[in-house]
Amino acid sequence: MSDWPEVPQFPADFRWGAATAAFQIEGSLHADGRGASIWDSFPTNNGDTAATATDSYRRWRDDVDLLSGLGANAYRFSIAWPRIQADGAGAPNRLGLDHYDRLVDELCARGIDPAVTLYHWDLPQALEDAGGWLNRDTAARFADYSAHVHARLGDRVKLWITHNEPFVHAAYGYTLGQHAPGRTLLGASFPAVHHLLLSHGLATAALRAQGATNIGITHNLAPVSPASDAPEDALAAARFDGWQNRVFCDPVLLGHYPDGLDDLFPGASDVIADGDAAVIGAPLDFLGVNYYNPYLVRASAASPLGFEFAEHEGVEHTAFGWPIVPAGLTRLLLELKDRYDLPPVYITENGASFTDTLADRDRIDYLAGHLTALRAAMDAGVDVRGYFCWSLLDNFEWAEGYSQRFGLVRVDFETGERTPRESYGYFRSLATR
Ligand code: NOJ
Repeated sequence: MSDWPEVPQFPADFRWGAATAAFQIEGSLHADGRGASIWDSFPTNNGDTAATATDSYRRWRDDVDLLSGLGANAYRFSIAWPRIQADGAGAPNRLGLDHYDRLVDELCARGIDPAVTLYHWDLPQALEDAGGWLNRDTAARFADYSAHVHARLGDRVKLWITHNEPFVHAAYGYTLGQHAPGRTLLGASFPAVHHLLLSHGLATAALRAQGATNIGITHNLAPVSPASDAPEDALAAARFDGWQNRVFCDPVLLGHYPDGLDDLFPGASDVIADGDAAVIGAPLDFLGVNYYNPYLVRASAASPLGFEFAEHEGVEHTAFGWPIVPAGLTRLLLELKDRYDLPPVYITENGASFTDTLADRDRIDYLAGHLTALRAAMDAGVDVRGYFCWSLLDNFEWAEGYSQRFGLVRVDFETGERTPRESYGYFRSLATR
């Protein structure tokens, strides 16, 4: 439409896509031999469950039609580990692999590059019962599972993402207990952090051994600023930057954890075995970046973490209450370029929840702002190869159930009916121009 906001041109070979995750869309939690995951029984804030979600395990062909109509040339989705190994170990479940095999075939037939996330938080419950990510053996299990998936799909998948947002999984699942598996270990949660990162390295090696060439990891990253000039706020901001950004990026991109690790996680060094750093720091083909918003941080004696977040004044917020700051994406990418010898970058998630309407001008403005900010980072020399909008569909937003709608496509959760929003047409106009 003529009054849609303009966005600068992107390179002709840029990947335009949308992202989803298995547990958030599939439903059919008992189909074809799927085992239980840690999320199956985790209580949400409003009683919603993912038993049906967007019903995508059955309606996957509709999703591919929607991607095709969106003009997408790539689709980021995740594989549910409990569909491949019900108990997280042993021979792969052929029926589970068949499902993703059909999806991958159909995507390829429609000219849409499959971008697979191997782990988007749905750990097999049997592994949780053995200690979950606190148990070093889970890292070895993950490499084994990843090899099975690659053996079946590796001839067609174009991008391999080992993990999605290990910071959020470890912080919410193991440090604070707001996500599955609901542990509240605070500073004692480091084994989960380390074993997630170790499993990334082990899976990368396993995939490389089978000939995979395009392997990365997706981190949720954010620029962090102190809320005031007070020195204690500067320290608090550095602490949060250390925890969210550096603890997860440095080992992967520099081959070692940042200074001050034992401050954040007392006793952390005892968890790291000889040789782990080299495994985790093996070269990557790309870095996946999920960007939602920047953080303002101030010191807080009342918080067990020693800091809290301050409000961004004078900016709009999403329905989730997240500040909308497109310039934060430019800043983030330029900071990453300064800190690291960056491999090519994919924006593996960016998007927003807004009130449930089809005429979602707010989402259109959000997309336009962030894509313009992304282009600015590219002009300043950051090598960005693609952008995946979160999300293709409204879906199950973890502890928030269905209350947060992120979709370019509206979903009626009673009937499963999908209706493209105005932002879907806008995205298509950018992806296909
Ligand atoms: C990041 C996560 O990867 C995804 O699962 C989640 O739905 C979105 N952010 C929105 O919160």
